[in-house]
Amino acid sequence: MADIDPWGDVEVGNYSEKMEKFGIEPIEEVADRLPDHRFIRRGIIFGHRGLDDFLDAREDDEEFAMMTGIMPSGVFHFGHKCVVDQIKMYQEMGAQVTIAAADIEAYNTRDMSLEEARKLVIEEYLTNYVALGIDLENVDFYFQSKAGNNHLARAATFGRYITQNEMEATYGSAEPGKMSAAQVQYADILRPQFPENGGPKPVVVPVGVDQDPHIRLTRDVASKYRDQDFMKPASTYNKFMRGLQGGKMSSSKPKSYIALTDDIEDAKEKIDQAKTGGQGSLEEHREKGADIEEDMVFELLAYHLIEDDAELARIREEYESGEILSGELKQIAKDRLEEFLEEHQRKREEAEKEVNQYIEENFEFDINP
Ligand code: TRP
Repeated sequence: MADIDPWGDVEVGNYSEKMEKFGIEPIEEVADRLPDHRFIRRGIIFGHRGLDDFLDAREDDEEFAMMTGIMPSGVFHFGHKCVVDQIKMYQEMGAQVTIAAADIEAYNTRDMSLEEARKLVIEEYLTNYVALGIDLENVDFYFQSKAGNNHLARAATFGRYITQNEMEATYGSAEPGKMSAAQVQYADILRPQFPENGGPKPVVVPVGVDQDPHIRLTRDVASKYRDQDFMKPASTYNKFMRGLQGGKMSSSKPKSYIALTDDIEDAKEKIDQAKTGGQGSLEEHREKGADIEEDMVFELLAYHLIEDDAELARIREEYESGEILSGELKQIAKDRLEEFLEEHQRKREEAEKEVNQYIEENFEFDINP
């Protein structure tokens, strides 16, 4: 069995074990060379591999790039927002940004038609990306199925540099559908370094540990490839936001997430039903205080709804000392959430028009197997 199956269930936790096993370095090592972002300050981005070249390039005013992919899996929720916030961070740093819509991967591994996959990417993901502040005119955005002949030809030739044993050891299987999706992903990750995109340069791919197998094999391919120079891509690793009920956040369990398109009252209701670290009785809570690690509402605040560290620390202190109750914490979250969703959903209406126009101008879909 593979250590990590990128197409399997996402595992939560055990980050230090994974770091040790796969040689992921702690982000603290390079934190002072990165922007002052809440994900870094709060350990949500916890590790990296090979980020030094990327940071050197930035400091030396050379080109550097960030690349990520969208796997369309349902409605766009706060878990997905983590990626968008990172894209924005890198765009603000001056990185070239490349975004792949993984319609081939969805087709091969999720029993989805290309058409369904593209529709989800456009309506759920891109629209929210734009509403959250991503400027598509400054991004190399493409659908894998429309990535162009060079991209797909390179993806096919990468097969020469990986053995079946490596595939099986890394992914736990070498199923053809998964393997062709994996090879397309290697091309995605190397795309910013294609000659037509300016050649070799440091590229960072922000991922969750589930995607690490792809990163490791892409680094392998990059160093072995004969016909063109590639730098090994770097990566950063972010924790997975847990579901509101505890455990996994999953697109197939609506109570586990808040979608950015959720009706505001429904979203508040989900907070009311969320798992907290509050104690069973008032007396016990006042005495022991909340268990913050087990509090999904606090997690939502820390990931997305409170920017100011001092404010978050104050809430944490009062909650852990039993001074405020779970119900009061939920009220804070509901107020913040309402404010955020109102603004976001307003922006989303504008974004929808913009995205439709962008797709119309840039893409024509002819292949619909
Ligand atoms: N496999 C990724 C996922 O399941 C999607 C993806 C495709 C991707 N190409 C990529 C992610 C390139 C990062 C870089 O979410």
